[in-house]
Amino acid sequence: MTKLTIVAFDGQRFEIDAADGSTVMENAVRNSVPGIEAECGGACACATCHVYVDDAWTAKVGEPEPMEEDMLDFAVDVRPTSRLSCQIKIAPDLDGLVVHVPERQA
Ligand code: FES
Repeated sequence: MTKLTIVAFDGQRFEIDAADGSTVMENAVRNSVPGIEAECGGACACATCHVYVDDAWTAKVGEPEPMEEDMLDFAVDVRPTSRLSCQIKIAPDLDGLVVHVPERQA
């Protein structure tokens, strides 16, 4: 289990014990985090699972793959720390990861 914190737009913090191999999106949906719609179910085809990776974690989480980068064009208020949460896989080296939910999705 890997510790994952998802901060909703209203500041509510969801501290989750996430299974390795699951995605940040799956954990958000499972814990009813508001603001993660995930309409495509994790196929990198909707951009409604957009999150901002916390500044302390951006280097560790890394850059989006080209397909994700293209899909991020459809997200609202994209920043350098933007990622699609269905494309971030939980692993032990991400223990303590923090992501923030934007004000609204696409
Ligand atoms: Fe659709 Fe992530 S759930 S792109």
